[in-house]
Amino acid sequence: MKTIYLTTPLYYVNAAPHLGHSYTTIAADCLARYHRLAGRSVFLLTGTDEHGQKIQQAAQTAGLSPQAFADRAVEQFASLWTLLEISHDEFIRTTQPRHQQAVQAIVTKLHAAGQLTRARYQGWYCTPEETFWTEAELGEPRPSGPEGRGGRPAGTRAPLCPACQRPLESVSEDGWMLPLRASQPWLKRYVETHEAFVQPATRRNELLALLERPLPEALCITRPRQRVDWGIPVPFSPEHVVYVWFDALLNYITVPGYVEDPARFAQLWPADVHFIGKDILRHHAVYWPIMLHALQVEEMPRMVFAHGWWKVGEQKMSKSLGNIVDPTAVIGQLLQGQPFAADIYRYFLLREIPFGQDGHFSEEALVTRLNADLANDLGNLVNRTLSMITGYHRGTIPPAGPHGQPLAQAAMRLAEAVSAAMDRLEFSAALESIMRVVAQANQYVESSAPWKLAKAGDTQTLSQVLGTLGEVLRIVAIVLEPFMPAVAQEIWRQLGCGERPRRLADAGRWPGLETDQPIGRPSVLFPKKAS
Ligand code: MSP
Repeated sequence: MKTIYLTTPLYYVNAAPHLGHSYTTIAADCLARYHRLAGRSVFLLTGTDEHGQKIQQAAQTAGLSPQAFADRAVEQFASLWTLLEISHDEFIRTTQPRHQQAVQAIVTKLHAAGQLTRARYQGWYCTPEETFWTEAELGEPRPSGPEGRGGRPAGTRAPLCPACQRPLESVSEDGWMLPLRASQPWLKRYVETHEAFVQPATRRNELLALLERPLPEALCITRPRQRVDWGIPVPFSPEHVVYVWFDALLNYITVPGYVEDPARFAQLWPADVHFIGKDILRHHAVYWPIMLHALQVEEMPRMVFAHGWWKVGEQKMSKSLGNIVDPTAVIGQLLQGQPFAADIYRYFLLREIPFGQDGHFSEEALVTRLNADLANDLGNLVNRTLSMITGYHRGTIPPAGPHGQPLAQAAMRLAEAVSAAMDRLEFSAALESIMRVVAQANQYVESSAPWKLAKAGDTQTLSQVLGTLGEVLRIVAIVLEPFMPAVAQEIWRQLGCGERPRRLADAGRWPGLETDQPIGRPSVLFPKKAS
């Protein structure tokens, strides 16, 4: 069986990680955990993109060598991923020798196969995006008025980057080119016939529209050393380094062993999902498949999923706009005193917006999710169930009886609903279905009123009600694992399940708890926060 191979973008190290970066990584981690829970073998890859002009300039400003600068920044990413419980299998840095050597072998192979031509690149460059633009892509100069979405104001001013609206730099330099337009008919056909290749549908349509117009003749895959020397040297052309995007995209095959380990490569490749934000769709859905095609890699990534942007107000969250949200501050300050702050943060990001759409971050929205979904619903259900088992059943799990059939049925079908949503990368819908069962269980507590049963001495019904609720919690603890791993583990512990593994296959089983199993010490999962 092929291993499920999932990737995040390699993040630039010029700035500290922010909420946007954490979003992509948490989504990828959630899918990885889901597949592991279902018993599948998974390889989750993340890392950092450390070369290029942008990093070179940032290092210069900081008065450090680019390598020292990158070494320092990488720590911030690594420690954030630990804080957020990211379960990556490898962390690749593009400055590692293993990656540099593989990239050199790959460009040498393309050169030897006659795939690269030397030419003068004449056009525009956006350093913040590290992206080349041709005249044709910028469109006709506009006579006057606001620049709108990129394009070219008339006059002497530089045109603006169509992606980030910042002024472009005019570039005329000699380099090595990989033909793009020659592969366009192949790529267009590939996209048309592989619906899953780019998702969601809005991004797929955007790509198809882009492919209706001619692509630039070629992609310049090098930079002259005299202008940018912070890059991987091109072995056959000492005056050049590899263009940072060309270098970084290759990580998706260098880590699986494309160059030196064909058996491992066959086990991992093709990538099942490349998780990216919509800002880097062109690089992943045009350059990347054309690069793979030129290398004669037969199988394309199965899916490139380009999610939306987190905005603050109406603007994309980004360092240059100065409106970034720092995940560490959200977890350490805003959610101070919450024993499961990182899980609350994960829950919020995955639940708040359907994956693929844009959304808005605000502290109020986060606190509302915490209080309404987590404290009032989930936390309350766990706490009251375990307190009742303690008070009415000597702190041991009662046998699950026939009482509460509709709830039991809904809980048993939960794994199926979660799987269906996860197969479509609908994280929010998966969580919604979990929270629906949680709400149903809370209603069941109200309607069956165990305290009245206790008062009336109906111990048989009482024990059945508590047994049913215990089973619901067991199932909830299993299906929550990909989203809130620490909370899932804590519910599991409170139920007395100890070190037993959580497996998705057990979520459809009823009962699954051991009768008379002593429960663990209950404790409040989500203290309510004043809003
Ligand atoms: N280094 C390149 C990627 C190379 S992949 C081979 C890069 N890095 S980046 O640091 O700029 O990270 C970009 C990614 O961060 C986006 O694609 C997206 O996944 C995430 N986000 C950055 N800002 C974001 C938002 N405001 N909202 C959501 N995600 C965003 O591009």
